[in-house]
Amino acid sequence: MANSFATRTFTTLSGLQPNMANLKVIGIVIGKTDVKGFPDRKNIGSERYTFSFTIRDSPAHFVNAASWGNEDYIKSLSDSFRVGDCVIIENPLIQRKEIEREEKFSPATPSSCKLLLSENHSTVKVCSSYEVDTKLLSLIHLPVKESHDYYSLGDIVANGQSLNGRIINVLAAVKSVGETKYFTTSDRRKGQRCEVRLYDETESSFAMTCWDNESILLAQSWMPRETVIFASDIRISFDKFRNCMTATVISKTIITTNPDTPEANILLNFIRENKETNIMDDEIDSYFKESINLNTIVDVYTVEQLKGKALKNEGKADPSYGILYAYISTLNIDDETTKVVRNRCSSCGYIVNEASNMCATCNKNSLDFKSVFLSFDMLIDLTDHTGTLHSCSLTGSVAEETLGCTVNEFLAMTDEQKTALKWQFLLERSKIYLKFVLSHRARSGLKISVLSCKLADPTEASRNLSGQKHV
Ligand SMILES: *[C@@H]1O[C@H](CO)[C@@H](O)[C@H](O)[C@H]1NC(C)=O
Ligand SMILES: *[C@@H]1O[C@H](CO)[C@@H](O)[C@H](O)[C@H]1NC(C)=O
Ligand SMILES: *[C@@H]1O[C@H](CO)[C@@H](O)[C@H](O)[C@H]1NC(C)=O
Repeated sequence: MANSFATRTFTTLSGLQPNMANLKVIGIVIGKTDVKGFPDRKNIGSERYTFSFTIRDSPAHFVNAASWGNEDYIKSLSDSFRVGDCVIIENPLIQRKEIEREEKFSPATPSSCKLLLSENHSTVKVCSSYEVDTKLLSLIHLPVKESHDYYSLGDIVANGQSLNGRIINVLAAVKSVGETKYFTTSDRRKGQRCEVRLYDETESSFAMTCWDNESILLAQSWMPRETVIFASDIRISFDKFRNCMTATVISKTIITTNPDTPEANILLNFIRENKETNIMDDEIDSYFKESINLNTIVDVYTVEQLKGKALKNEGKADPSYGILYAYISTLNIDDETTKVVRNRCSSCGYIVNEASNMCATCNKNSLDFKSVFLSFDMLIDLTDHTGTLHSCSLTGSVAEETLGCTVNEFLAMTDEQKTALKWQFLLERSKIYLKFVLSHRARSGLKISVLSCKLADPTEASRNLSGQKHV
């Protein structure tokens, strides 16, 4: 029954011609964008809304569809289906595609047409997967590019900055899916950002950023160290602060989750075989060092200037970096009531909830073998002649380097030894590299992490402090 349902009544996407009327197509949604609003030129003061998606009905054919309309219609249509759902579209308008214009922002498709949906003429029905031919459903696991047409993460790193700005395909495994961060831009638009860490046989950690809700939603369905993805048309750039190459999901990108290809199966075998080994080492590297090259951080600030920057920078979501010559004014390492060491999840690096023993990020139970590790996790205050920055986080290997001991060595110390350790740092002028991100939750409006903290060379510190340029 499913077969006849799928073949008899529908026009295939390969058979679409401009201006065909009264037709009905079926396809699995393989890509989708967020809803966007634009000022309506014909109707000053009001907004028109749009979103687009890509449907596929055979290995070789897929087509983009776009819908425009009022806010209610577009939002409810967009909310009615997700990537991976099957939809039946009746009476779409078939338009010839202007390749250059269309493919600048939308996925490249083999079709010479695109579909346009309007509230008055077209209908979209979401089908339950029981009604649909399994052949159609299985297309969700087929990349939209040739299965061997991709860069390994090692290739990207090896090519380095020559790939900056290029749009390429990537096959990789998911290492972790970060928390989604919400922010408001300076022109009052809402935004969100989620960082996914990828890895493969050639590279242990590589950042991929998602900026739109649809790709974030997809990313949240991935299982760290189990899911493999084929990302077609993803943008590669060089991140000068972290001194590394990164990938960004853009509106042209189509991500295939768990691709059914020989290359993906080889990668899947690799990640299964390597699941238990070396997790700890490279997690610590990617999470606590963040591979930031400290030499690229050159701006020197006072505490007062940093606080001012927080106010001026309103709406900027990207982290900033800077150097502070200051001393640690609060360091609670010898106080029974303050926790200094916590369990972190070895899959994703986030703190594990102590009551439930569950990692809230990847839902793993920490009682499982080897799934947590101990890490320094403390908040310190930094003070200079202009003021104090409260609650700066000092964690992981940076904390170990700063204190000059490992977590286990620290836990073995007596209270007297801890107090002595503390007084080695308190009130000593240090050169501190910081990362700061705007955060509504932080008291100062800034979430500050220490990237490095070493005793300062007194002449360098005083020369810098007398020659302050940033105001
Ligand atoms: C849709 O139909 C309604 C009622 O028939 C009409 O008022 C409206 O202008 C139509 N909208 C468009 C975009 O054609
Ligand atoms: C994305 O999701 C957030 C949180 O659910 C929401 O506030 C925001 O409006 C969404 N943005 C878009 C473009 O859908
Ligand atoms: C100020 O600090 C920067 C960064 O640490 C350092 O490179 C520079 O030499 C210092 N300037 C002076 C005048 O000491």
